[in-house]
Parts: sequence; C-alpha cells; structure tokens
Amino acid sequence: SGDRIALTPTMGWNSWNCFGHEVSADKVKRAADALVKTGLVNHGWNYINVDDSWQYNRDGKDPSFKGQFRDKDGYILTNSKFPDMKNLGDYIHGNGLKMGIYSSPGPWTCGGCAGSYGYEKQDAESYAQWGVDYLKYDWCSYGGVIDGLPNNDLGKVPSLAFNGGGDLDKGVRPFKLMGDLLYGQPRDIVYNLCQYGMGDVWKWGDETHAQSWRTTNDITDTWASVKSIALAQDKAAPYAKPGNRNDPDMLVVGVVGWGNPHQSKLKPDEQYLHISLWSIFSAPLLIGCDLEKLDDFTLNLLTNDEVIAVNQDALGKQGVCLNTIGELRIYVKDLEDGGKAVAFANFGREKAKLSYKDFKKLGISGRQTVRDLWRQKDLAGIDVSAQSLPLDIPAHGVAYYKLSPLK
Ligand code: GLA
Repeated sequence: SGDRIALTPTMGWNSWNCFGHEVSADKVKRAADALVKTGLVNHGWNYINVDDSWQYNRDGKDPSFKGQFRDKDGYILTNSKFPDMKNLGDYIHGNGLKMGIYSSPGPWTCGGCAGSYGYEKQDAESYAQWGVDYLKYDWCSYGGVIDGLPNNDLGKVPSLAFNGGGDLDKGVRPFKLMGDLLYGQPRDIVYNLCQYGMGDVWKWGDETHAQSWRTTNDITDTWASVKSIALAQDKAAPYAKPGNRNDPDMLVVGVVGWGNPHQSKLKPDEQYLHISLWSIFSAPLLIGCDLEKLDDFTLNLLTNDEVIAVNQDALGKQGVCLNTIGELRIYVKDLEDGGKAVAFANFGREKAKLSYKDFKKLGISGRQTVRDLWRQKDLAGIDVSAQSLPLDIPAHGVAYYKLSPLK
C-alpha cells in the first residue's frame, strides 16, 4: 500500500490473555516496566498493547459510568481504570516503548465495550492525541450493522460471518474507513485487522492500510488450538511481504488466563514448536502473559536472538510446509542472506526419528552449514544432495535449523 511503516513483524505484549476485563492503566504500566526490567526490550520487544476494556462497558457496572460512552462532541470516554490515556501513552513512551490500543468497527467490542461505529473520525484523532502507535480493530458487532439490527441488539449477534449476502465490499468498508483515518493522522499508527480471516482478508488487507490481519480464531493455551491454527496458515502465506503479515494470534506461553491465572497448558516441547512456527511464519509476536510472572524457561523462549532474527528477516516471506512425512511437517522460509530457515515440526504423538534426505523438496541442494537455532550451534556441514540429516524430534516438538550454502 506504500505505507512503508512496520516493515518487520510487530513484537510486544497485549493485555487480553492475562488481564482480560481486569486490565487497568496501573497493570499496563507495570507490564511496561517489566518489559524493560526483564531485558525483553533488548531483544526487540517494544509494543505495550491495551486490548479490550479501556472504554465503558454497556453492562453499566463501572462506578464512574453516567450513561454516556462519549462526550458531547463524540470523543470517547475512558473507564475508571484508565483515568488518563495521554498520561499512559507518555509513561509507555518514557520507557522507550510504543503504545497499542483496541476497538471495533461496530458499536460494541467483543467484550461489550463502546466501539467506534459512527465515531471513527473522533477515535482516530483521540488515538493520535494519546500517542497511540498501534490499533487492533476487531469485527465483533459489525455483522449486526450489515444486517441492519438496532444498536442495542448488535452485541448479541455472535455472527462472525460477513452476513452481507456475500457482498465482500460491505466487510471491507469499515476497515478501510478506519485505515484511511489512521493514515491521515500526524503520526504512524500500525493497523491490525482482527476478523478471523473472513473474505480471505490476506487478499485485501493491504488496501485498508493495515500491516497485519488475523487469519484464524482466538488462540488458547492448548495443543489442539495451537495445532489447528498452525495448520491453517499456509493458504495466506503468499500474501506476506515487508509491511504485510498474516496474524495467527498471540503467543500462549507464560502465565495466562484472567480470573484463573495459570502457566500455559502447552508442554515445553509444544512451546518450542509454537514459537518456532510463529518465527518462521513471520507472524506478529505478541506476548499474552503476565510479564511480572515470567519464569526462566519462558524468558529463554522469548529471548533467543537467532529465532527472532528469522521472524524479523527483511525479505518478509512467510515460511510454508513443503514436505510432510506422516505428521512431521517441514516448513521452509527464504532469508535475505541466501540461507533458509527450516522447521521440522512434529505434530504427531510419537517421536520422529529418521534420516532426512528429501532436501530437493525443500529447494535446498549442495554443501550446507546446518545451524541449530535454539541451541545457537553449528552442526557438521553436510552435502545435502548426497548425505542425510539425522533427526530425533520429540512428540509435539521441533528441530529448528538454518541452512546456509557453503561456498
Ligand atoms: C476477540 C479477539 C481477542 C480479544 C477479545 C476482546 O475475541 O479476537 O483477541 O481482543 O475479542 O474482547
């Protein structure tokens, strides 16, 4: 689209999976502090994104709610947990970080808070004034707008379909409206469309000035969720390029689950596979856990610079599965320096022990250095046209390598 912003995938934190409706400016500031204190910031993590529930909820439960979601000029009011958005923006920027926010093109967000419908112009202006650097714009109640439902019923429509009699344009319009307004603000605002892949969003997201778009439904911290989302990414891959990314949703590692905080239910091997694939997919990397409760395992997962470098590679390609052996799927991503990232992802319940020799299918031939990205160690160089690579990958685990041609 010519935006020329956020050419590499966004890296940061989002409040939803750990705080949900219990988010507050205070907790967001603490997350910003933690991003710095843990050293994550030194590995490229720099967005602090407030998700749903900074606006008033239509449940009317907020003690300071007086029946108005907006002021007389249509500018949005914030709830009692977010007394001063400009102050929050300044705090985040003061830490050398960037601020993200969340809204919906419909009148209500997915969590029942005030959305942007009818007030897009005021909202884009407010974001710019507060110092917002990123907007996640979530479909939610917009299906009801298309269906012509009265405002009050809209939130009750769980519809994730376009519902527009197959009229794709009706589903594109609200995203383009906000995208144009953001583009017109006197600051760069990264734009993420959250509408679960409807209408093959990867084919038209760029036209709305968006840099990324969700391709699939909400992730949860279970193997079944990570697996089904991972397996659904390849069809969108050809549309990834610098400044345009498919978003398979947030990282489900660390302590997540608002109301019921718990360590991610993914086993350690499943977490390696999850992070490896989001790396090779060139996915936006948004940590969804409580940053004040990071253990060493999670911190190590998130601070491997070689794994991150593949995600941030300047070519902006999305790795795709080029070969499967049973439930072993082999993903390949071309890198700017002529090397290729290769993830051997074992989706099966049994370990995968084999001598791999199908490098032709991966588009790789001749003498190669094989580097283990998680261990940051070169394995012996091999001629993949003649020799095979021994693999011993645990169930639900991964071997994540970079192959570079030896000259
Ligand atoms: C949707 C989104 C989530 C989150 C919630 C907030 O479910 O997909 O990521 O933003 O809404 O209500």
